[in-house]
Amino acid sequence: MLFDSHAHIDDAKFDDDRAQVLSGLRRSGVGLMINAASDIRSSLESMRLAETYDNVYFAAGIHPQEADKASERDFAELERILEHPKCVAIGEIGLDYHYDEPAREVQRAVFYRQLKLSAAKSMPVVIHDRDAHAECLQAVKDTGARGVFHCFSGSAQTAAELVDLGFYISFSGVITFKNAKRAVEAAKAVPMDRILIETDSPYLAPEPFRGRRNEPKYVEYVARKLAEVKGVSFEDISSETFSNALRLFGIDSASL
Ligand code: NI
Repeated sequence: MLFDSHAHIDDAKFDDDRAQVLSGLRRSGVGLMINAASDIRSSLESMRLAETYDNVYFAAGIHPQEADKASERDFAELERILEHPKCVAIGEIGLDYHYDEPAREVQRAVFYRQLKLSAAKSMPVVIHDRDAHAECLQAVKDTGARGVFHCFSGSAQTAAELVDLGFYISFSGVITFKNAKRAVEAAKAVPMDRILIETDSPYLAPEPFRGRRNEPKYVEYVARKLAEVKGVSFEDISSETFSNALRLFGIDSASL
């Protein structure tokens, strides 16, 4: 069984077949999945999905692209949601300097606030880092927060530094793309006991589905590519990434 450590099944692209996708997870080889939120509304929707489906857990948080809309009420609501028994992380949170919108200082303030919250609550974070590698690294050093860098796009050197700090590194369908040299090099630098796999559905469908809507079942193609990169069997990468995710998110395998 595979663990899709990051998907957005609350996204409108699943409005027509959400129940089918989620109730079919096990049949398609996905044992567990984390639904990652981007704001308070999607945190609440993720919570509902986790309450409906046994094998769905969730992360609650405010994405950098939504940082300018976050109110004090949202932060109070977030703290309440984090108490939910199936909420296993704060995320996704981070910095996105690709579009430079909202303003960097707004993104930074919301990111730091949630990093501090995670350190205070000893809850892992799910970090979105786009074109902000140095600053994200500094932020997790400053706050002592720990967790996973999702859809990792940094260098092998940054990956190694994050692993030394205690972080997990998650790879997505990007690693299957023809020009994915950087992701492949980063994956080589991450020890087996720190690797996670994800789809980031509905985005980033792996080859041979690139450009189409992504689904949790395609996490298999990420696992196959990673097995090739690491020189291990598909079974080994599946079981290692599964137990890594259980460990990081504090999910008791006896409860499955
Ligand atoms: Ni995401």
